Amino acid sequence: MLVSAKEMLTKAKAGHYAVGQFNINNLEWTKAVLLTAQECNSPVILGVSEGAGKYMCGFKTVAAMVKAMIDSLGITVPVALHLDHGTYEGAKACIEAGFSSIMFDGSHYPIDENIEKTKELVAITRDKGMSIEAEVGSIGGEEDGVVGMGECADPKECKMIADLGVTMLAAGIGNIHGKYPANWPGLRFDVLENVQALTGAMPLVLHGGTGIPDDMIKKAIDLGVSKINVNTECQLSFAAATRAYIEAGKDLQGKGFDPRKLLAPGFEAIKQTVKEKMELFGSVNKA
Ligand code: 13P
Repeated sequence: MLVSAKEMLTKAKAGHYAVGQFNINNLEWTKAVLLTAQECNSPVILGVSEGAGKYMCGFKTVAAMVKAMIDSLGITVPVALHLDHGTYEGAKACIEAGFSSIMFDGSHYPIDENIEKTKELVAITRDKGMSIEAEVGSIGGEEDGVVGMGECADPKECKMIADLGVTMLAAGIGNIHGKYPANWPGLRFDVLENVQALTGAMPLVLHGGTGIPDDMIKKAIDLGVSKINVNTECQLSFAAATRAYIEAGKDLQGKGFDPRKLLAPGFEAIKQTVKEKMELFGSVNKA
């Protein structure tokens, strides 16, 4: 069932668990995430970066694939199709293409411009029954060409953006896209507490879910995070399983080179990673 992320995140915030956003890259990724959500009876958010959207032949192709797959796989758990770190133009293109949710990342603009653009997109998404995520502060590192310095969010600015009527808010709290460096000091729970104090019932979003220790994830959920984004970890498990298959020479045995066989271990590895995250985030049986 393709839905906006509003209801699933409102329930998550009230129930003190988090819904995972898993970024998709192709058919195998999408199928793996959808099937795991169904098996775990968990709501799920499919994240699509602008780069991944381009790679998959545009947002219209992605929306058509996801809708058809939900139907043909018999997926009944709530699924949101969400633009990840969208530009203003990308957000409009996804609204047009039939996504059910967008993120407008205006964090690199001065706060007044972030507010102005977010406000305009809030009005459009509200009319269409879609959900919208905004960002304050920035996520460190790089994801698909989106680079952030990792500045922590200013809680007062978070409140200004939350008051615009966004569905969920990503606040930079020292989180980083990709692998965390060995000297990473950890999440800034003091910043998260201050953001939570000013934004109340607003579902907060934790980007950079890969590599954050389980105890920090649990504490972040306790302090008001209800959506957690995971991208790199599925890529790493897919790559490791594919490497093991090839290094064992399995692609050279019989018809092991058949893409449906070659990609199968990576597909299963994504499923395993998604399942582990859903268990950790507490979203199993919350569909
Ligand atoms: P990771 O790649 O670090 O898991 O981050 C994902 C993310 O935040 C998507 O926006």
